[in-house]
Amino acid sequence: MNTLDTKENIFNFINDEILKYLKKYSGEEMYEPMKYSIQAGGKRFRPMVLLLMSQAFCDSYEEATPFAVALECIHTYSLIHDDLPSMDNDDLRRGIPTCHKKFDEATAILAGDGLLNISFEIMLDKLKNSFDKKYIDVIQCIALASGTKGMIAGQALDIKAEGNKNISSQELFNIYENKTGKLILASMKCGAIIGDANEEQLKIVEDIAYKLGIAFQIQDDILDIEGDQAEIGKPIKSDLKNDKSTYVSIYGLEKAKKDYQRLSQEVLDGLEKLGFREKNIYYYIKNLIDRRK
Ligand code: IPE
Ligand code: IPE
Ligand code: MG
Ligand code: MG
Ligand code: MG
Repeated sequence: MNTLDTKENIFNFINDEILKYLKKYSGEEMYEPMKYSIQAGGKRFRPMVLLLMSQAFCDSYEEATPFAVALECIHTYSLIHDDLPSMDNDDLRRGIPTCHKKFDEATAILAGDGLLNISFEIMLDKLKNSFDKKYIDVIQCIALASGTKGMIAGQALDIKAEGNKNISSQELFNIYENKTGKLILASMKCGAIIGDANEEQLKIVEDIAYKLGIAFQIQDDILDIEGDQAEIGKPIKSDLKNDKSTYVSIYGLEKAKKDYQRLSQEVLDGLEKLGFREKNIYYYIKNLIDRRK
């Protein structure tokens, strides 16, 4: 593998790896619905961030691959559950009918559960086959980010805040940090850990990864209003339908866009501070700022 691989090559690489890892489960009861949702596409943002951070720190990303695949499994599970009738009740995801529409609700719940378990099977396999203490740190970081102190808590708070027009800015940031931010933070941080970043570097990474996570959700909320359904591959105005408390509904589009630009720039500045101005991760994040999906 060429350590100078472009981000386009790495995107194709991670797509192939995700399907390769999943194929090990072919023939099993939950294989088809899991494959249906994970191979539907998506930006692969979290695995890309993890691999590109690893590449930026140590010129290699191969070692990080199982963790990148695991992150995408967890993320896809969170989307399958997020779309369920009892959550956001959406019918379209990644350009195709949501898992519960294509199959049924029970199957969607179990496919999500299956992907969550598979993510830990993949990471533990890596640890078992080549023991390194830093892998334990990474697995713990991902478990905490996606668990009841992270994504699950954020999703619970997001549902609870529906219809609440008086939500404080602290509550809003708390929802964003947990439902979306922590898994994105874990993606950046774990890439850095695998790339052997030092303590000082990890501090900078944590600071910009927090901002990246919040910015990512703000843009998601903007696209819920201004996006093109065919492009984003999911229903627009879903947040309005559910009377969600979002950055846009609380502060308005203009402030949302301004704050999104400011946070994104701060992420780029932090990457520059780490000496990554010419690295793939810098260009990847920079290109993503204007994302329309
Ligand atoms: C959507 O995530 C859900 C959020 C946390 C905002 P993505 O925008 O990364 O969705 P995919 O993976 O590209 O489909
Ligand atoms: C979802 O936020 C965050 C998750 C943890 C899945 P949204 O509900 O806004 O995500 P989309 O817009 O449905 O992708
Ligand atoms: Mg939601
Ligand atoms: Mg949703
Ligand atoms: Mg959304």
